[in-house]
Amino acid sequence: MGPAHRGVFGRRAGRVAGYDYSDALRASKVVWNERTLDACLTSPEDTIPGQKMGYQVTDAIDRADLIAYLRKVSPP
Ligand code: HEM
Repeated sequence: MGPAHRGVFGRRAGRVAGYDYSDALRASKVVWNERTLDACLTSPEDTIPGQKMGYQVTDAIDRADLIAYLRKVSPP
């Protein structure tokens, strides 16, 4: 459904080769870090209007766990 997430931490949004992103994500200047991932997982559409991820994570502890995991599987 979505682009590969491994390595997303520290990367510019919308840059996985071969994935057909929304124009909004491709044009965004977002770099994925704790703050931007937390905001975007809380409310993707408020963070990057026009994006197409129809999924959000409402629980703050779940978001923190996910962000810690994504950081762990990304290059240092
Ligand atoms: C909790 C798990 C998830 C996390 C942490 C997450 C996080 C992200 C992130 C960081 C991006 C941007 C990737 C990039 O810039 O390369 C993204 C994009 C996307 N995700 Fe998720 N996602 C999750 C679950 C899902 C699920 C369950 C779906 C589908 C049912 C989904 C669909 C998408 C789509 C379609 C995009 C592309 C958005 C666009 O082009 O506008 N994601 N996701």
